[in-house]
Formats: sequence, C-alpha cells, structure tokens
Amino acid sequence: MTSLEDLPIRDDLRGRTPYGAPQQAVPVALNVNENTHPIPEAVAHDIVARVAAAIMTLNRYPDREFSALRRALADYLGHDLDPAQIWAANGSNEVLQHIMQAYGGPGRSVLGFAPTYSMYGLLASGTGTEWITAGRDDEFELGPETAVAAVREHDPDIVLLCAPNNPTGTPLSIETIEAVADAARGIVVVDEAYFEFAEPGTPSALTLLEGRPRLLVSRTMSKAFAFAGARVGYLAGDPAAIDALRLVRLPYHLSALTQAAALGALAHSAEMLAMVDEIRGQRERISDELARLGFHPYRSGSNFVLFGGVDDPRAVFEQLLARGILIREIGIPGHLRVTAGTEAETTAFLEAIAVSAPNRIAS
Ligand SMILES: Cc1ncc(COP(=O)(O)O)c(C=O)c1O
Repeated sequence: MTSLEDLPIRDDLRGRTPYGAPQQAVPVALNVNENTHPIPEAVAHDIVARVAAAIMTLNRYPDREFSALRRALADYLGHDLDPAQIWAANGSNEVLQHIMQAYGGPGRSVLGFAPTYSMYGLLASGTGTEWITAGRDDEFELGPETAVAAVREHDPDIVLLCAPNNPTGTPLSIETIEAVADAARGIVVVDEAYFEFAEPGTPSALTLLEGRPRLLVSRTMSKAFAFAGARVGYLAGDPAAIDALRLVRLPYHLSALTQAAALGALAHSAEMLAMVDEIRGQRERISDELARLGFHPYRSGSNFVLFGGVDDPRAVFEQLLARGILIREIGIPGHLRVTAGTEAETTAFLEAIAVSAPNRIAS
C-alpha cells in the first residue's frame, strides 16, 4: 500500500495531521459547536424556492462578486458598512485561508494565542506561513499587556485574535483588540465566529474598523445562524484590504446555490437567530451545573463550555459516547469541551457527566 511517505509531498507538510473532529452519527452531537436547533420550516421552504430558481441558471457561472450577498451581509452587520467592505467565502475557514494566502506565505509569520482554534496552525502550514503561538493569562484570558508584549516580541505579519476564543470560550475585551490593532505592524484578524453568543451589549471589533485599514473582522453563518452545512463565512474590512483577497480566491468560488441559500437565510435572520438566547441560557446552565459537580468551567462568551478538573478525559469522553453523547477532547490535559445544545440535549449531557463528577452529587 502506498503511504504519504512514498509520495513527493511538500517537506513542510510531512508528518502533519489533518483537521479531524470525529464525525459520528449519535443522538446527541455536541462536539463541533454547531447550533443544534434545526432551521425553522417556513424559512427552509423559502430557501428551497430560492435555490430552485438558481438551479435554472446553473448553465452560467455565478456572480463572481456575489454583489447581492455582500449587500445582505453588510445590512446584517450594520455599523454603516458598505458592500465594498465585505468579503465572503465557503466558510470562515476559507476566508481565513484567503487572508493567509494574500498576507502570509513563505518567509512570513502569523501569531496566535494558544490554546486557540486548531485550524489556524493548519491554514498557516497549508500556505507556508510560519505559525507562532504565544501564551495567555490565567484562566485562558488575554489582557492587553500580554497580547501586546507577544506582538512586540514576534513582530508577525498577521495576528489572529479569536473573540471569543475556541476552544476555551473566553471572551476577548475590546481593549485587548484595540491595543493589538494599534501595536501590530501587519494585518490583525479578529475571528468573531461566535460573536452572536456574547453577552448583549458586548462591542464588536467592527466598531474599531474606521481608520484601521489593516484590521479585518471575520464572521460565519455556521454557528449562531444555524447554517454550518451551507458553508458561508464572511469578513468586514477596508475595501483595499479586501481587494487583495481577489488575487488569491478561485474564480466563482461561491456557487450560485450557496449565494441563493445564504440570501434566503439572511432574509430571515431574526428567525434564524431566534434560538440564540435559549442557547446562551443552556450554556449558563452547563457552567453552573458543572461547577456544582466539582468541575472547573471557564468563562464563556460562546455556545460552548470548556471545563477542567477531569481526571481521565478519554474515559469520560468514551463513557458519554456509550450513552450516545459526543463531546470534544481538545488536547488540553484534564479538560473537555461541550457545545450548548437544546434543553433536552443539555439535560442528557448533564445527567451523563454527573456520573464522572468529582463531587458525584448525582448518579
Ligand atoms: C473560531 C472559529 N473560527 C472559524 C471557524 C470556521 O467555521 P466555518 O468555516 O464553518 O465558518 C470555527 C469553526 O469551528 C471556529 O471555531
């Protein structure tokens, strides 16, 4: 059997592991931070009608500039954004890849604050960009002093700020973002994939865009918007900074079907986001209950909770899986991560985890 070792793969990719969150058909999947509530049926019907109309023109290439989608995304984001300030791609992973292709590459570096989203390192290696990680403060928080010191020390071409951070859930203050944006010489990306789950009133990095042409704010429809399967991510930034991304994207990268589906979802954004408050409530319930059981949940501004105090994460993961509940081992010793699901899914998780709880209050 041929193995990778036998093939003329790039030296810098040898020995690397691909992104590999387990995909398993289980009754309660709480491992990849999706919105586990289904799309409302009336919205689904409208999306189907729009996709059906788009099918009639599939003999033609789609709008390469996805103009209608950019307008809809600008309207959704608010902050007086203009469509020229919007970029989109097949998931925010692809948006981030475009950024690394345009602003990173061989001889350049990207800085992140570990532990952070595992795709950052993979996107760096895929684009030949050096991936540098700096540490965080206690409880995985990231204050302005720590962040700015790392930017000064490493002087990267790109800084990736995950706000709130995956896999820790920790919110990132606007003060830290502003301090990094002002200290960095290169591009500063704020990945707001989970922004809609933040406490109401939390300022977005979008408020800092004015006068900062090297600041890019990335978002996704995969999380709060309950649209992970459609693959739509986007960003807001200066039109010139976005122009550079046209140099690296594939022509017609957003299919006519994707554009039609995303426009349908955005036309119903209130219904699509209707479950966000409920999910936030379940997240709080998970944190409170895990703390009561003797685990150590971290502060979360997202739709998931990282918790420590787990003696044997593998054993707990397996024990939950045996009950049809899939959560995530994220490689931090003594820790696991769980997505806040529906009320019933959350109940199933909490009842199952109580068996392995340090305090063993329930069984
Ligand atoms: C922090 C963060 N950014 C980006 C993404 C990518 O999401 P997508 O490509 O589905 O938009 C994820 C997905 O888990 C994430 O956690």
